[in-house]
Amino acid sequence: MYLCGMAQILDGKAVSSFFKQQIATEVKEMVASGHRAPHLVAILVGSDGGSKTYVGAKEKACVEVGFAGTILHFDESISEEELLKEVHRINLDSSIDGLIVQLPLPKHINENKITQAILPEKDVDGFHDINMGKLTKGDYSGYISATPLGITMLLKYYHIETSGKHAVVIGRSNIVGRPMSILLSDSSETGNATVTLCHSRTQNLKELVAQADIVIAAIGKPGFVTGDMIKPGAIVIDVGTTRIDDSSKKAGWRLAGDVDFTSSELKSSFITPVPGGVGPMTITGLLFNTLKSRKRQIA
Ligand code: GUN
Repeated sequence: MYLCGMAQILDGKAVSSFFKQQIATEVKEMVASGHRAPHLVAILVGSDGGSKTYVGAKEKACVEVGFAGTILHFDESISEEELLKEVHRINLDSSIDGLIVQLPLPKHINENKITQAILPEKDVDGFHDINMGKLTKGDYSGYISATPLGITMLLKYYHIETSGKHAVVIGRSNIVGRPMSILLSDSSETGNATVTLCHSRTQNLKELVAQADIVIAAIGKPGFVTGDMIKPGAIVIDVGTTRIDDSSKKAGWRLAGDVDFTSSELKSSFITPVPGGVGPMTITGLLFNTLKSRKRQIA
């Protein structure tokens, strides 16, 4: 039986530093043996504050591990055709290993059209149908979406057993919920779980969450999961990063997760904080994919 106390924090910031050091070492060796360092390009359209912050953090992480990182910033008014041209240009540029287009895009641009235009070999976000299809079949030769990949890295680091456990994933987005549910149910090191995927039409969500050994909250609703909903000793992974107004902060806002941390910390065995949990691991997942792309070209 699990005795309630304080959960162990799954420290995404520290674990991300650990993996970044490993990546940096590999890059150093690569460069020392005469190869160029990996190069990631991020396309940012418009001036959404959140997107700007995320793309900036990705570029900073590239520099930290010795990658080349380029941000291509376009005005909100860029046409779909112009953006597609940029994607095609980068697809053909052999000095670029990874391309991500930060989402969401302005309404006049079809996100799926852009995502599918990226060469699967450079799709380090893992959003292309080929990469999503491979993941669905348990074929890890493609790219796994950075957030679910980062979460599996965090689970591995802390030796969290998923096999035979009941994992409840809340949210069915193509970026997080769906790939996460597939990974957890797969026959891999961080898989073999029995997975329930909950969404906005789920009728007995509370009942299901109460049965979960592992809860992954990825719905973008601040504080949605509360301590009273969680089974004692559950592992709680919070993917939420909603900006909410907070006049006590210099920026005027703070990041809020999908989990009410204070009440959930008392019930769970392991829990990710926001910020400093899944967020840094997402960036590490992206770096991992970009290194994988570069290593493929060298091999
Ligand atoms: N928007 C929210 N998350 C992501 C992500 O992981 N990649 C991209 N490109 N856009 C996002």
